[in-house]
Amino acid sequence: AKKAVLGPLVGAVDQGTSSTRFLVFNSKTAELLSHHQVEIKQEFPREGWVEQDPKEILQSVYECIEKTCEKLGQLNIDISNIKAIGVSNQRETTVVWDKLTGEPLYNAVVWLDLRTQSTVENLSKRIPGNNNFVKSKTGLPLSTYFSAVKLRWLLDNVRKVQKAVEENRALFGTIDSWLIWSLTGGVNGGVHCTDVTNASRTMLFNIHSLEWDKELCEFFGIPMEILPNVRSSSEIYGLMKISHSLKAGALEGVPISGCLGDQSAALVGQMCFQDGQAKNTYGTGCFLLCNTGHKCVFSEHGLLTTVAYKLGRDKPVYYALEGSVAIAGAVIRWLRDNLGIIKSSEEIEKLAKEVGTSYGCYFVPAFSGLYAPYWEPSARGIICGLTQFTNKCHIAFAALEAVCFQTREILDAMNRDCGIPLSHLQVDGGMTSNKILMQLQADILYIPVVKPSMPETTALGAAMAAGAAEGVGVWSLEPEDLSAVTMERFEPQINAEESEIRYSTWKKAVMKSMGWVT
Ligand code: G3P
Repeated sequence: AKKAVLGPLVGAVDQGTSSTRFLVFNSKTAELLSHHQVEIKQEFPREGWVEQDPKEILQSVYECIEKTCEKLGQLNIDISNIKAIGVSNQRETTVVWDKLTGEPLYNAVVWLDLRTQSTVENLSKRIPGNNNFVKSKTGLPLSTYFSAVKLRWLLDNVRKVQKAVEENRALFGTIDSWLIWSLTGGVNGGVHCTDVTNASRTMLFNIHSLEWDKELCEFFGIPMEILPNVRSSSEIYGLMKISHSLKAGALEGVPISGCLGDQSAALVGQMCFQDGQAKNTYGTGCFLLCNTGHKCVFSEHGLLTTVAYKLGRDKPVYYALEGSVAIAGAVIRWLRDNLGIIKSSEEIEKLAKEVGTSYGCYFVPAFSGLYAPYWEPSARGIICGLTQFTNKCHIAFAALEAVCFQTREILDAMNRDCGIPLSHLQVDGGMTSNKILMQLQADILYIPVVKPSMPETTALGAAMAAGAAEGVGVWSLEPEDLSAVTMERFEPQINAEESEIRYSTWKKAVMKSMGWVT
């Protein structure tokens, strides 16, 4: 059969904490043509530790590319139309590998991992109260969440890492760097780089000068020579070189020209290009980002300041305020894998629908302490308000409510910091297909929740950055490009008073979750 003729296509790798995807978009219409998704294992070797296998992550990317290309073939779409590839990724997760063998020297230490709690406490003592230079340079609180302390742990505890550093063989990277290095040839000339958004999550990067910061590297004891080159989010980093047994050989030579941490990618994919525009993405965690334009706004209410994007070498940088919630979709996975009360994540909606209330049960999933706005590492998960009447449906409902209450907390902080309350919330991410969750979110925020009909905005953002890069030029970033996107809207259906009562009981539960670990 004759292959269908299309405009230029752009591929995007979306490597999240729970799964990897490869998606292919039509650059003229932003239409999603085909995709494939693979779930990723997480290992919990000790209480509070979270690791992933960097090779499994890479393998999952190959598998997704291969399967997506196969599906395109079945649609009679010629994969030689793919003109660029973008990468978006779970941020902060830390990998160190050997540049001569291509072997990771330890598992990836995942952003949720808490092993560095004592390192963080010790380092905090060395920051003068009146000069928090870590916060002012990076926009971040000193926390187990960010890469610098994970890398410090690897340097202190893993002999192979120490040896490779001594022998000048070690490379550090977040997942974007690991993937781009591997996909551009690995040991055969792989490009060791990252983009400004991912760099801004390491706690080693100065978000004002947009460079690795010598003082911060000294403070954390990080050798600067193992760090990747920092590039913009939209430029050609290198060409795909698949030495691997990948059948999708036709992608060989395609430029990798977009790179953004997944939350920044979603901001771009939702077209939040104006000061004050915000989006909330429901993945493993939940992240509300508000574009603050060229200004670095520092929060008074527990939010982070982060690089939003820089779409081209000569383009200006944009910043965002971010409210980070560690556990959102992860609580559903926990109900599935650890309690077994559901067999698949989708089943949660059915259970919650059966009861339509948590019946006074509140679930604070502080599995990794609490992130924004509390930054409380001593918190741990609790389920409270139980009676003999409580059943698994109520717990399922409470888990969904927890995601919504946590979002309410960061939205409140965002409104206080920005001064102008958001009139509606733009949402995306896997969990947004759950209609009960979306309605609950509108009820608990007491503003409308708006969701694009194409939920893969993270991948779309990475594809846009890749397609718009200088030397590729197949995607124009003008807002009217996506004017055809249809939106689904959820209006609040309960009264404001009821919404407030539920929210204040949630806050009581949050207080009870704190101080479990000393
Ligand atoms: O900061 C962590 C974040 O990037 C993880 O995103 O989509 O895996 O929840 P996700």
